[in-house]
Amino acid sequence: MAIQSDVLVIGSGAAGLSFALRAAKYGTVTIVTKKEEAESNTNYAQGGIAAVFDPNDTFESHIEDTFKGGVGLCYPEAVKTIVTEGPERIKDLTKWGIHFTLDDKGKVFDLGREGGHSKNRIVHAMDKTGRVVEHGLLDQLRRHPNINILDNHVAVDLITEHHVRGGGKYPKGDIHCWGSYVLNCETGKVEMYLARVTLLATGGAGQVYQHTSNPAIATGDGVAMAYRAGAAIGGLEFMQFHPTTLYHSKGKSFLISEAVRGHGGILRNKAGEAFMKQYHELGELAARDIVARAIDSEIKRSGDECVYLDVTHIDADNLRKRFPQINEKLLALNLDMTKEMIPVVPAAHYMCGGVITNLQGQTSVEGLYATGEVACTGVHGANRLASNSLLEALVFSERAFHNAKAYLDSHKCAIPTIPEWDDEGTFNQEEWVLISHDRREIQRLMWDYVGIVRSDERLERAGARINLIRDQIESYYKKTVVTEPLLELRNMSLVASLIIRSALYRKESRGLHYTTDYPQKDDINWLGLTVIHQGNVSLKALANAFGY
Ligand code: FAD
Ligand code: SIN
Repeated sequence: MAIQSDVLVIGSGAAGLSFALRAAKYGTVTIVTKKEEAESNTNYAQGGIAAVFDPNDTFESHIEDTFKGGVGLCYPEAVKTIVTEGPERIKDLTKWGIHFTLDDKGKVFDLGREGGHSKNRIVHAMDKTGRVVEHGLLDQLRRHPNINILDNHVAVDLITEHHVRGGGKYPKGDIHCWGSYVLNCETGKVEMYLARVTLLATGGAGQVYQHTSNPAIATGDGVAMAYRAGAAIGGLEFMQFHPTTLYHSKGKSFLISEAVRGHGGILRNKAGEAFMKQYHELGELAARDIVARAIDSEIKRSGDECVYLDVTHIDADNLRKRFPQINEKLLALNLDMTKEMIPVVPAAHYMCGGVITNLQGQTSVEGLYATGEVACTGVHGANRLASNSLLEALVFSERAFHNAKAYLDSHKCAIPTIPEWDDEGTFNQEEWVLISHDRREIQRLMWDYVGIVRSDERLERAGARINLIRDQIESYYKKTVVTEPLLELRNMSLVASLIIRSALYRKESRGLHYTTDYPQKDDINWLGLTVIHQGNVSLKALANAFGY
């Protein structure tokens, strides 16, 4: 069965939905999404969206803070783009009926503060920004006759020349994308979704690690599919660990927003000592890589299982009003943050690298765009600044839409004949134990050997093990009827191997990539993007990597 539309969007977070809303004015849009419509990293975002609205703030200041966070690897054009276009994209959200928290007079946005920002510039909806944005976009979308959104549909692989029957009439060397094979989880069948423009908006890969703030959907599918399709992937060694996720047996993966530190929260060890000033002059508001490493070092030094975030000195009513979701979650676990300290640990949070795009969201595969967390636009460099992610997703989705519209207008050629998914020779093997075991092994391996602090020996060991696991998974995949857990496992193993290769390649410490073998930053040899493309790893100058 082939379903054709003008545009195919894979993923229903902020990136995919905001693109779809724009594209639907001009043509038909199909959105496929893995679980229920709202399940995404976007839905869990707490802190907010960074943008310059305060008259005392400036674009230059936001740009400079982003550069500092990215430790020399931000692509200047991309940073300038998100900062200068950001306020307009937030106004678009308000036009779509999404409401953000206003100040006491109810006239202007209440602007919060987060690590690495030198001004208050975080637009937020209390501590539920993501949920408000996600549901606001979905509400708009449901009114649109041109959009067909299909939940429980998992993209399996992008359709390219590789799948075209009888080869293509396209010039050698160019790769085109014409849509995706998609698993319909209700029927168990793989269907074919065709489009001349495909947007990858599949989000991040936090699930590759044992401890993560990300929901279960974040298995790196977009990076894996794009890599298999021949797209260039960049910066994967820069996996961001959020310093403060709740440490509680029943509160797994729950984030305690950086905005809590922005609001005056203090990090203390078990003995009650505030330790952050020993690590950085900005203390609790230093960039995330610094705070996460400081916590990691405190935990390793003391042998304790966690550190604590203390807000007991802040007015209790004020806290409950500003952080209602966090308060509710903690109270459900019998923890009253107004009276006791919150136990916290770092966890994998955000993939700074991804599928490389230019300033229009185009990947190196024609007809394939990527925006949001799956993309590597050059904005974040070696470490993302808090609340720049939703901003990047919104700004680049708008840009990608304009480019895709022009592309559709100027490329009217028909989609070639594509064969249906072929599952001949595959069997329903029902070996659930193999899949769950391998998934846990990858997560553990990545946490232990490819985490906050790395070394060549750990990375090499991880690389050798992951290659074995990948070989086993590939051979199992070839003879097994595809299921969602199997697809995710295959993608996770590939993304894990790409992260390890990128981390092994970079022989220095910078931002989120810290290795004990090369503890210093080396601007002479490593001021560029690690690119993995069709099996090869190389270092590219930023302007070459992003400026095509
Ligand atoms: P997502 O929102 O993750 O959406 C990805 C979509 O793709 C999902 O619908 C998923 O189901 C779908 N998908 C994935 N694979 C497939 C497949 N194979 N087939 C079909 N569909 C697929 N950033 C900020 O800027 N500010 C914040 O305050 C903030 N807080 C955060 C708090 C938490 C707990 C987390 C986890 C992240 C936070 N971030 C924040 C980061 C930010 O939320 C994400 O980077 C951003 O929402 C990514 O949006 P996206 O649309 O690219 O991806
Ligand atoms: C948070 O609220 O701490 C998350 C913000 C972000 O990831 O940008």
